[in-house]
Amino acid sequence: MKIAIGADHGGYSLKEIVKKHLTEQGHEVLDLGTHDTQSCHYPVFAEKVAHAVASGECERGILCCGTGIGMSIAANKVRGIRAAAVSDCFSAEFTRRHNDANVLCMGERTLGPGLALLITDIFVRTQFEGGRHQTRLDLISEMEKKF
Ligand code: RB5
Repeated sequence: MKIAIGADHGGYSLKEIVKKHLTEQGHEVLDLGTHDTQSCHYPVFAEKVAHAVASGECERGILCCGTGIGMSIAANKVRGIRAAAVSDCFSAEFTRRHNDANVLCMGERTLGPGLALLITDIFVRTQFEGGRHQTRLDLISEMEKKF
C-alpha cells in the first residue's frame, strides 16, 4: 500500500517510528515532513498528506502531532478526507470498518510507540464494511457539497 505520512515537531519522532515500521512491512511510504523537531505548524503537513490521499496519489495517510487532534481537525477540512484521531485499538478497527477512515492521526505525547504501531497495523489491514455504512458516508459527502 502507498501511504502518505506527515507530522509537526510534536509528532516527528513518532512519525519516524511509524515510517520505519511500515517500510519494513513492505509498504511504500511518502514522507511529506516535517523532517526535524524544530517548531512548525501542523496544518501545513495535514494539508500535504490530505491532498496526497484525496488526489488518489496515496491510498491512506498517517499524521502525527502532540495529540493527533489538531492534525485531524485540519485534515478533515479537505474534501474526501475522513481523518480519525485514534488512541485505542477498538477505535482503530471500527474507524476503518464503519467510517472508512482514510487518514489516521495519532499523538506522540499521548501514545507510547508500541500502542501506536498496533493502532497503525489495525488501521492499515482492516477493510471497510460498506452497506449501511456507505449510506452514512454518502450523507457526509452531501454535507461537504452543502457547506
Ligand atoms: C504542538 O505543540 C501541538 O500543539 C501540536 O503538536 C498538536 O498537539 C496540536 O493538536
